[in-house]
Amino acid sequence: MSEPRGAERALEPFEAVATAPAQATTPPTLEVATQRLESWEGDALVVNLFEGVKSPGGATGAADAALGGAVSELIAAGELTGRLGQVAVVHSRGALPAGRVLVVGLGPSGSFGPEAARRAAAAAAKRAQELGVRSLATIAHGAGVGGLDPVRAARATLEGAALAAYDFRGWKRRDESRPRLERVTLLEADAAKTSALEEGARQARAVVAGTYLARDLVNTPANVATPAFLANAAAALEGRGGLRVAVHDAAWAAQHRMGAFLAVARGSANEPRFVVMEHNADRDDLPAVVLVGKGVTFDTGGFSLKTRDGMVPMKADMAGAAAVIGAMATVAELGLELRVVGLCPCVENMADGRAYRPSDVIVAGDGTSIEVLSTDAEGRLALADALVHAKRYAPAAVVDIATLTGASMVALGAGVSSSLFANDDGLAGELARAAEETGERVWRMPLFEEYAKAIEGQVADLKNSGGQRGGVGTSAAFLQAFVDYPWAHLDMAGMELVEKPGARAYLQPGASGYGVRLLVEFLTARAASA
Ligand code: BES
Ligand code: MN
Ligand code: ZN
Repeated sequence: MSEPRGAERALEPFEAVATAPAQATTPPTLEVATQRLESWEGDALVVNLFEGVKSPGGATGAADAALGGAVSELIAAGELTGRLGQVAVVHSRGALPAGRVLVVGLGPSGSFGPEAARRAAAAAAKRAQELGVRSLATIAHGAGVGGLDPVRAARATLEGAALAAYDFRGWKRRDESRPRLERVTLLEADAAKTSALEEGARQARAVVAGTYLARDLVNTPANVATPAFLANAAAALEGRGGLRVAVHDAAWAAQHRMGAFLAVARGSANEPRFVVMEHNADRDDLPAVVLVGKGVTFDTGGFSLKTRDGMVPMKADMAGAAAVIGAMATVAELGLELRVVGLCPCVENMADGRAYRPSDVIVAGDGTSIEVLSTDAEGRLALADALVHAKRYAPAAVVDIATLTGASMVALGAGVSSSLFANDDGLAGELARAAEETGERVWRMPLFEEYAKAIEGQVADLKNSGGQRGGVGTSAAFLQAFVDYPWAHLDMAGMELVEKPGARAYLQPGASGYGVRLLVEFLTARAASA
């Protein structure tokens, strides 16, 4: 995200005022301190309360005692119930060195888990940020009575707070009225616990950075975030944690016979890029997992043109690629003991005199011919060639992630869950467990034979559209035709952008960064069991 700003270089004729954001959005510093909350100096201190608790214990009890029973008083008055995400603010008025105490509800202890910890931490951080807090300290939600192990509690708490503080300012000129949370400190008095909390913080820092990157990429509009821009963002990660990044152009794709990917690219003046990222590239001893992300930087639908309103959010049609890039950055930072390859076909779907047309027949890298019924079913074309390319890594598993079909949103609700398809129950189970841990939901869908039948072609092997309702299944069946390894497909359409965060306070309006945490958790669990 470090192209020069428009003002610093001459603009080409007809060039829009295309400027990258002045700088990447930076997360707050996340740290751990072995310290009692009674001695912590800063703007705000966050403690918590399970629903229904009348007299708080632990750290919350200590804060209550220091504040002369102010927290108990709020509970008694019914103003503080411990409902998940509820935040009560108490000014400490000198009773504590921290300026304020925020008590956040954790909800019922029976349904508590990392997602509740994340939501609670996020609600508190958001409120703190609104209050102009720059430096916040918090206890690790759930590490005590909640029964979460301290690593997961620390990670979820810091993740929630940092993700909630994300604020994409894009091209807005300086606005000092938008306060920024600069530091989040995890407080723990018991020195025996700090190394676990440090490990949680290390994981949180890596995954937060990856998610911030993915969000920035998705939030950046398509006049800036072209295929080359996306590829540059990936290339900028080269060397981090030993990560290797190669960026390939259309000529390379042509050498690899990527006729499906290149067909999509034809209509755009912005040339395509095929990004290959490798973590532990030299480790032949480790099993390889390949991630594939759809990187359509803008989807007009091509000549199967989208509607006016339907086209507007399509700068986010590269959210799968953003998730893969963010996940690769995180995986490298964490140094996972796994070989991980990220493949991102980056391409813009436009309509001009060279563009592909409905009825064209194209040929993918493995020789499969495809009749293009809809140029708007472009994602599966770009992915097909990437899935073929994945074979060369002899993968133990391949997971693709894509904003693939509106039908997935119709099936599950926009912003509710991804659709998960898999030809391997074990892999599907691993992703479901990662979803459970991260709160980035997936819902398994069937790969019925009817879907494969619906895309059998007349003049070519396959049609790129089933031409009927329920297009989420036929799109998955299309991808399945290109795989011969354990494979899962995540249709994340509707998960990439957020209008109202609702209970998930760690989201902000705009890009969600969905997929980074899910993929990283899946890979972390794999590495641990390998
Ligand atoms: N990028 C869209 C899918 C999409 C729609 C993502 C809405 C997020 C929000 C995809 O390329 C597309 O256009 N899919 C078509 C497929 C159809 C032509 C078979 C769709 O879902 O309508
Ligand atoms: Mn489309
Ligand atoms: Zn698309």
